[in-house]
This record gives sequence, structure tokens and C-alpha cells, in this order.
Amino acid sequence: MHAQRTQVLAIIGQGYVGLPLAMAAVDAGWTVIGVDNFAAKVAQINGGSSPVEDVSDDQLQAALSNGAYKATTDFSEVALAAVITICVPTPLDDKREPDLTLLRSAATGIAPFVSDETLVVSESTSYPGTLRDLIVPIVNELKPKDSKTIFFASAPERVNPGDPVWNQKNTPRLVGAIDEASKIKALAFYESICDAAVSVSTPEIAEAAKLLENTFRLVNIALINEFTQLCSANGVNVHEVIDAASSKPYGFMPFRPGVGVGGHCIPVDPLYLTWWARQSGVQAKFVESADSINHAMPKYVAERALSLVNPEIKNPKVLILGVAYKPGVGDVRETPVSELRDHLKAQGAVVAWHDPLVSIWEGSQPVDLSWDCSVAILATKQPGMDVEQLIKRGIQILDCTNSLKGLAGVTSL
Ligand SMILES: NC(=O)c1ccc[n+]([C@@H]2O[C@H](COP(=O)([O-])OP(=O)(O)OC[C@H]3O[C@@H](n4cnc5c(N)ncnc54)[C@H](O)[C@@H]3O)[C@@H](O)[C@H]2O)c1
Repeated sequence: MHAQRTQVLAIIGQGYVGLPLAMAAVDAGWTVIGVDNFAAKVAQINGGSSPVEDVSDDQLQAALSNGAYKATTDFSEVALAAVITICVPTPLDDKREPDLTLLRSAATGIAPFVSDETLVVSESTSYPGTLRDLIVPIVNELKPKDSKTIFFASAPERVNPGDPVWNQKNTPRLVGAIDEASKIKALAFYESICDAAVSVSTPEIAEAAKLLENTFRLVNIALINEFTQLCSANGVNVHEVIDAASSKPYGFMPFRPGVGVGGHCIPVDPLYLTWWARQSGVQAKFVESADSINHAMPKYVAERALSLVNPEIKNPKVLILGVAYKPGVGDVRETPVSELRDHLKAQGAVVAWHDPLVSIWEGSQPVDLSWDCSVAILATKQPGMDVEQLIKRGIQILDCTNSLKGLAGVTSL
């Protein structure tokens, strides 16, 4: 890599956010250094095998072979970069509160290698104040003595892995910087890789907007999950109701019920919001209630599925179809299907699973669709899953995805 420092980008974290960002930047003419502290992942990436669905092996191999991209575990390589973006996970701890250990370690890792006028951007989702109160002090304290001015901005990633329409390039990017000079640098950077950058007045606005976006989804999903239970108890088809309400051209947006919420964002980010609320002595009751409604869904789904089985069968065999948290990806992080399986087992069921995009899940292997079962639960509609062969065999299916409506033997959630 012999690119001018001005056109070199370093990205910390090469996962669902960092690697697609790297490819988008390569397409825009940047030379990219992808830093990740997981050595096996770095070796896989440098070997030309993409760990995420949104980046193909061909795309990765092209970027590697023309020298526009490489992955490394070595933080000192960020010294070559004019821009450093941080894309590391921001999970919950065992008290379900923000765990910023990885973000802190990423900031600590880059700090000794920033140069004068490096732009440092956090793309990780976190509560408002994270850039200003956590990242800026760490970098400023540990930076080399001759690096006088470092620019800082927050630009929360909004990518939706597996989405065929919206990606890092065409999704407008929020940018909030700590001062005017940082703002100009950060906007110029994002305008070079995205179709549109949206400038907001502070990093806290950008950080809070990201939490609002994902909390909006969480509470609307919870509303529909609660409403589904009400409709089902009264013999009303919730999907017909949602379709009917969707005919209103304004003021309504359809959300669908499901096994619960999963992934790195929707179940997690709203709890950054509830924690943030508690820090200022406020309780975000509405969000907490939505969280508990969604958490109760796997148990509800287990009960609905078992109600379809002949009660004389003491240990019914239940096949779960799709264990990833959403269609089109093999990502099982925070999948609500784990709790579904646990509730089924607690009721005495023998449980197996099938997912064409997941080869191993929590230490267990999938079965194929010929597995003999009393009932199947379509939890996530994965591409390439031939559910109709179960219907032909007369197996009852509880469809949590609204994709099999009207078919014989299928009950909609
Ligand atoms: N996945 C999504 O759909 C999505 C969408 C928008 C925003 N986000 C946010 O983006 C951030 C990253 O999420 P992700 O899904 O890409 O996570 P990920 O787990 O897919 O990838 C993160 C990568 O960072 C590496 N890493 C962890 N700590 C590190 C450190 N200190 N130094 C270097 N590498 C480190 C891990 O090995 C991993 O490869 C999170 O804050 C998340 O909330 C995620």
C-alpha cells in the first residue's frame, strides 16, 4: 500500500458494519486498512473469504488483489490513515446495561497512532455523550505529543444487513461533530463514500437519533406483538387487520408480529436509551414495556405451536425453521429463537432446527426437512428453504412470518 495518507482510511472492527464500509470506501477510491483484534477473522478476510453476506468473496478478492484493501490485527498501521472510523460492537452486559469495553479498547488502541489532523469517527451505536465523554478524552490523553489537533465526529451506522435496496452508499448518513473544523472534515469524508451526508449540530443529536430510530422499531413491533395476541384470542386474523390499516395513505406504517426481536440492534439499542434515561433520573416506561412484551413472545409462540399438537403426544417433536434473527442472513446474535427453543423444551418437546444459512447453532447441528415432526414453526423465512415439502407431508406449521398464508395445514401467528 503506497497511497497518500490523505486517501487512506482505517476501520476498526471488520464485522457486519466495518467490512461493507471498507468495500464502499474502496469503491469510492480510498485505500483501506481494516483492523480487527480477532486474528482468525483477519486471516479469513485476507484469504479472500468474506465473513458477512453483504460482501461477496469476489468483491473482497478484487479489493485485496489490487492493493486497495487489507485486514490486520496491528493497530500501529492506523498511523498511515487520515481518517479512522470505529465500528466495534456495543453490546449489553449481564445487567442488560451498556458495555463499552470494546469501544474503550478500540479508542485506546488507535490513540498512540493518530497524527496531527487525523479525523476519528465513531460509527458504533451508543448513548448520547459517548463520543464527547469517552472517545475524545481517551484519544486526546494517549495521542502522540506532536499530534496537536485531532478531529472527532459521530456518524452512527444505519446499515440493514441483507437489505437488497438500502446499503451504506444510498442510506443518508448522519454526521455530528465536536467543532466546525471536525464537521467540515467529516462531511467531506462521508460525501466521498455516501450519496448524502446529513449534518446535525452535535454528536449527541446523531447518537440520540440512532437510538430513536431503533427504539421506534422496537415499540412498533411490540405493539403489533401485543395486538396479535389480542386478535388471536378473539379469532381475528391480525395480518388482514394490518393489511386493512395499511390502505390508509398517511399516518400508518405496517409492522408484523414475530417470534420476538433479535440481532445486534433492535433488542440492544433501546436499552442504551433506557439506561441513558435512568442516568438523568427518568424512567423510559414505554420502551421498557415494549422490551418486556417482545421478550414474552417466544413463550407465547411455543404455546401456540404446542396447541396444534395432539395432546396425547407426551413429548412432541418440534422442528424450528429458520434460527437466524432475520431472513437472508446467517446471523444468530440475540435471536429470539433461542428462547423459543428453551420454552419448547421446558414443555417437554423434542426440538430440532433447520436453517440453510446457519451450519452450527449454539453447539448443535441442523436436521434436514425430512425430519419427522409433530409440528413445525416457521420462525424465519430463509431463502432456499423448501417449506412446501412439509405441507405436502401434512405437517402442521405455525407460520410466524406471514409467508405461507392460505396454505393447507398452516396457522398464522
Ligand atoms: N449489524 C448491524 O446490523 C448494525 C447496523 C447498524 C449499526 N450497528 C452497530 O455497529 C457496531 C458494530 O456492529 P457489527 O454488527 O459490525 O459488529 P460485528 O460483531 O459484526 O463486528 C465487530 C468486529 O469488531 C471486532 N472488534 C471488537 N472489538 C475490537 C477492538 N477493540 N479492536 C478491533 N476490533 C475489534 C470484532 O472482532 C468483530 O470482527 C455496533 O455498535 C452496532 O450496534 C450494527
